[in-house]
Order: sequence, then C-alpha cells, then structure tokens
Amino acid sequence: MNRRPVWIQNIGELATLKASQPGPKKGAEMSNLGLIENGSLWIEKGRIEAVGTTVQLKQAYAARIEEADVIDAGGGLVTPGLVDPHTHFVYGGSREEEFEKRLQGFTYMEIMNAGGGIHSTAEKTAAASFNGLYNEARVRLDLFLRHGVTTIEGKSGYGPNLETELKQLRVMQALNEKHPIDIISTFMGAHAVPKSYAGQEERYVETVINEMIPAVMEEGLAEFIDVFCEKDVFSIEQSRRILMAGKAAGLLPKIHADEIVATGGAELAAEIGAVSAEHLLKTGPAGIKAMAEAGVIACLLPATALFLGEEPADARRMIDLGVAVAISTDCNPGSSPTVSMPLVMNLACLMMKMTPAETLTAATYNAACAISREDSIGSLEEGKQADFVLWNVRSYRELQYRFGVNHVHSVWKRGELLVNGFNQ
Ligand code: NIG
Ligand code: FE
Repeated sequence: MNRRPVWIQNIGELATLKASQPGPKKGAEMSNLGLIENGSLWIEKGRIEAVGTTVQLKQAYAARIEEADVIDAGGGLVTPGLVDPHTHFVYGGSREEEFEKRLQGFTYMEIMNAGGGIHSTAEKTAAASFNGLYNEARVRLDLFLRHGVTTIEGKSGYGPNLETELKQLRVMQALNEKHPIDIISTFMGAHAVPKSYAGQEERYVETVINEMIPAVMEEGLAEFIDVFCEKDVFSIEQSRRILMAGKAAGLLPKIHADEIVATGGAELAAEIGAVSAEHLLKTGPAGIKAMAEAGVIACLLPATALFLGEEPADARRMIDLGVAVAISTDCNPGSSPTVSMPLVMNLACLMMKMTPAETLTAATYNAACAISREDSIGSLEEGKQADFVLWNVRSYRELQYRFGVNHVHSVWKRGELLVNGFNQ
C-alpha cells in the first residue's frame, strides 16, 4: 500500500456521489451526484482524508504538499470506482456456438431445456481444474479493472454438484486475496437443476438446503444467496424455501426475478426482504410497487436484455415509483459475455431512458448498496476507501454520451494507481 499521501488536483468535474441520507438513492436523489467543479482529493493510507476544490485543499494541506505524490487530473472527470453488483465471472469454457443458434431463432430457454445453456457451462466448469478456473477468472478481473471496476460481486451456480460449487467459491476467495479488485461472493446453487437430478427437482431443492448451504457456511465462502426464479427453472415456492433457508443460515438474499416470464419474483423479493432483485425484465406495476414498499434494490442488466433480444426493464417506472436502481454487467458466458460497465451505463441511458446522472448513481453508490458495501465504497467521502477512476472526458454527461468506448484514463484502488494512463 502506498504510504505517501496522494493529492489529486485539477479535477474538472468531481462526482462524489455523496449521499444526503443513509441507504440507497431513490427518485430525485438518484440525480444528485454531489458534483464539485475543479475538485481535489487528499488520500492518506488508502483512504480519502479530504474532498473539496483544488483551491481549498491546496490551502488546507499547504504544509504537507511536499511529502505527497501530486497528481494533476488535467481537468478530467473523476468518479468513484465502478461497482459491478451482479456477475457470474468464474466459469469454464465459452458458448459462442449458442450465440449463433440464437441469432438463427432458437431461444435462450429452448437451448437450456435441450441440455445446453447453463448445463453446458456447468459441465465445462466441473471439468476445469482450480488453477484453470482461477487463471481465466483473473484475466477477466484484469479486464474489469481496465474498464473502471474496483469491486465486483460473483456468483457460483455452474456446479452440477456440490464439489464444483465449492470450487467456484474457493476460486473467488483466492482471487479476493490476490487480486486488487474486491470480490463479494454469492452462493447460487439454485441456478439450474443439474442433469443428474432431471425429474427430481424437489430432491435437488432439498440438497441445496440441507447439504450445500451448510457446506458453504462451514467454509465461510459466501455472503449472499441467489436463486434463478423462473418458469421451468425454480418456482416461486422453491425459491422462497431456498432463500429462507439461506437467510436462516446467515446469507443475505438476492433473486433472479421475472427475467423471461413474470412469475411473481419481484413480489417474492419484497416478501422475504431481499437486498436486491435482478433482471426484472417482465416485472409489472404491482411487483415494482411491492419492491418500493419493501426497499428492495432493483439490479438491472441492460446488456443481458440486448444480448437476448428482450425488451429492457421498466427502469423509468421503477425510479418514478421510488425503487432504488443499480446496474450491472451480469457478466456470464450465456446471456451477457461482457466485462464493460461503461457499456452498461451507455445502455442504461439508450435502452432504459435513465438519465446520465441516474446511470452513474446506479453504477456506483446504488451498486455498492446492492452488495451492502455503501459504508466503505460507492462514493468519494472522507473516511471511505480511495477507489476512484479518472476518465478521458470532462463530464459525466460526456461519459454517457460518447458510447461504446472505454474512456478510462487511470484507476486507483485503496489509493494505489493500478491502471496508469499517465505514461501513454
Ligand atoms: O443472469 N439467468 C440466469 N443466469 C444468468 C445466465 C447464466 C448463463 O446463461 O450461463 C443470467 O442471465
Ligand atoms: Fe445473472
């Protein structure tokens, strides 16, 4: 860790994302980015010690500037490090042949029900060695970092058996120790009913509850639990049992809800007090209202909707009804093989009519809330971790407007310069 203080000055637009109250930003507050023009940050031992204008910090730290690494941001935009709160980034193999099949007219669920989809990745993940999975996932994490992501959530769920589920989670644990990106792990044994349990769905639900959750807890491998609640995958009733069992064991619930068919997943999320509900492509007004009342965060995944050729989630109605919205890549080999949160921000604007300001909130502060990390990351405030990005643009509006380009200039994690655009 860099022990010298770091002084970043001459930030054209500093989007602090400072929250005016605890908890995720909702409604109009999603547009409040806590902007500071000609901003500046003073960083001490990996944490933010002061935030203000360049003039203010220059005065306040006049006596100490000589001992600091001084960085000139050149009038660029600085935001908190992006947070990706929903990924499946540890997996074996690839599925480009399914992509072609879908372009020819086969649906995602047709491919999965015929034994492909999640099942095919599960087979490749089971066959992969720990080191093989680790190395592939590490390369992906490096790419995430180069796209401005400093914290990521990762799910298991490509295990056709307990052993493979544990292997995925152990890979995430090992990467969390070695890689600069922080990784928050989610157990998702209920992602698909493994082929070996075909026709015995109930028996698999019991296995998840009675064998898998205890094994995950015993090794302390996860903080969240997630279920693919979907027609022909896990029913509302099965999802409720699994999530409640996880909750009783100490895991925080999340749920893949109403992605392909509206089954009432959003209402279930509200009923059980899930931290977030994911996808929500088909969720109607009643589900949105239930989420607003229960304070469930909507984690929206526009790249997945684009990749599957589906209509995006109704983000506008969610924001207008008071649901806090986060966005994510959903990085996975089947429905969203991307590592680009900048692209996802562009898509949130273009496909879901979220404003550039709402989108930045959804990719930083609200994303941190979706993984219960808002106390330490997601905004640039005194005492928080010094995770931030300098962009090759002058404003957050320009970031969302010049779409399809990675505008990252430099990335700092805990005050360390990890992606260095100054030498180019
Ligand atoms: O979030 N919907 C379920 N799970 C993933 C896709 C997993 C896969 O196709 O490999 C998702 O879209
Ligand atoms: Fe997902």
